[in-house]
Amino acid sequence: MADPLTKLAYQTLQNGKGLLGLVHKEASTRLMNLLAPDGVPSTVPVPPRMLQDLRASMDRLHQLDWEEAERGLYPSSLLFDAPWLDWAARYPLVWLDTPRTWSRRQERNIRDLPKDVDHSAYPDYYLQNFHHQTDGYLSETSASLYDLQVEILFNGTADPMRRRVLGPLLLGLQTFGERPSGQIRVLDVATGTGRTLRQLRGALPQAQLVGLDLSHAYLRQANRWLSQLPGELPQLVQGNAEAMPFIDGGFEAVTCVFLLHELPPEARQNVIDDCYRQLVPGGTLVLADSVQLADSPQFEVAMENFRRVFHEPYYPDYIRDDIDQRLQSAGFEAITASSHFMTRVWSGRKPR
Ligand SMILES: C[S@@+](CC[C@H](N)C(=O)[O-])C[C@H]1O[C@@H](n2cnc3c(N)ncnc32)[C@H](O)[C@@H]1O
Repeated sequence: MADPLTKLAYQTLQNGKGLLGLVHKEASTRLMNLLAPDGVPSTVPVPPRMLQDLRASMDRLHQLDWEEAERGLYPSSLLFDAPWLDWAARYPLVWLDTPRTWSRRQERNIRDLPKDVDHSAYPDYYLQNFHHQTDGYLSETSASLYDLQVEILFNGTADPMRRRVLGPLLLGLQTFGERPSGQIRVLDVATGTGRTLRQLRGALPQAQLVGLDLSHAYLRQANRWLSQLPGELPQLVQGNAEAMPFIDGGFEAVTCVFLLHELPPEARQNVIDDCYRQLVPGGTLVLADSVQLADSPQFEVAMENFRRVFHEPYYPDYIRDDIDQRLQSAGFEAITASSHFMTRVWSGRKPR
């Protein structure tokens, strides 16, 4: 159980991260205006009302994150979990990498990938510089900067948003209440550098965890971070989430965080269908991704600006997509959905 001092520390930490994220983005925009004005993306002016709504919504996210830790869904230590020293050391590298991002944006160069990438090993939609990120998802450099870049983008709310999968997941797992926790198997699809697996390990210390991703480099980075955790090392598997290399029905739960908006519509459905295949009857899928126009119309300008600033080719389609419908057509029942700051979370159960 956490005490008021811990709560104050958590609030201070989140406010500090928020401020650093804002300062970084403002400084980067000003510098770009000065040094590479041709590449500055034209964004829609943000209405003051939206800023207030964003602030209030972020506060609610932090409050819920705190309350769920207090209720024991996960340990409060998870609220402070980050490789602080490592991030501090890497922060100058984010700045050093920034001009490369600008020039790609300026030249609309979205296929600037490492020369040694075997293009036949990946789906075409994957072979791009999402977010104008150096090397796309296909290098150690990209993998080593990704977590920090995401923290900056979301003003320090990335993990609180990822943790929103834990409530629906733990609720879904109650179906298997009689089973020893060491026999519960959870798959995290598109695990990237493993941040969601860290949250899962906090909430389910005994469970068997597996993470899957297309990027070898991101999986190696995930392995470095995850091997520092106590308990059994999650298993990491390289593969395409549209057709995962597992037998049917091998998991009691599947999570998938921040993948859907980076997929074309057919691939989005393929991934949801393949998640369904992974589950045992009664198993739960929990998806988390950007909020959408239908549930968060007040953030339309934020969604539009995200698309304008970052290379996110499938985002305009994603924010109009009907994920409930996709879950239903895959076969899921008892579908739920809720929004938390910039993240929407869906859950669905495979019928028994
Ligand atoms: C935005 S990142 C999200 C990573 C992680 N879930 C997180 O919360 O930080 C998207 C991830 O999806 C992976 N990815 C994209 N398409 C994929 C696919 N078809 N199959 C498996 N992984 C994929 C990328 O390699 C990348 O690690």
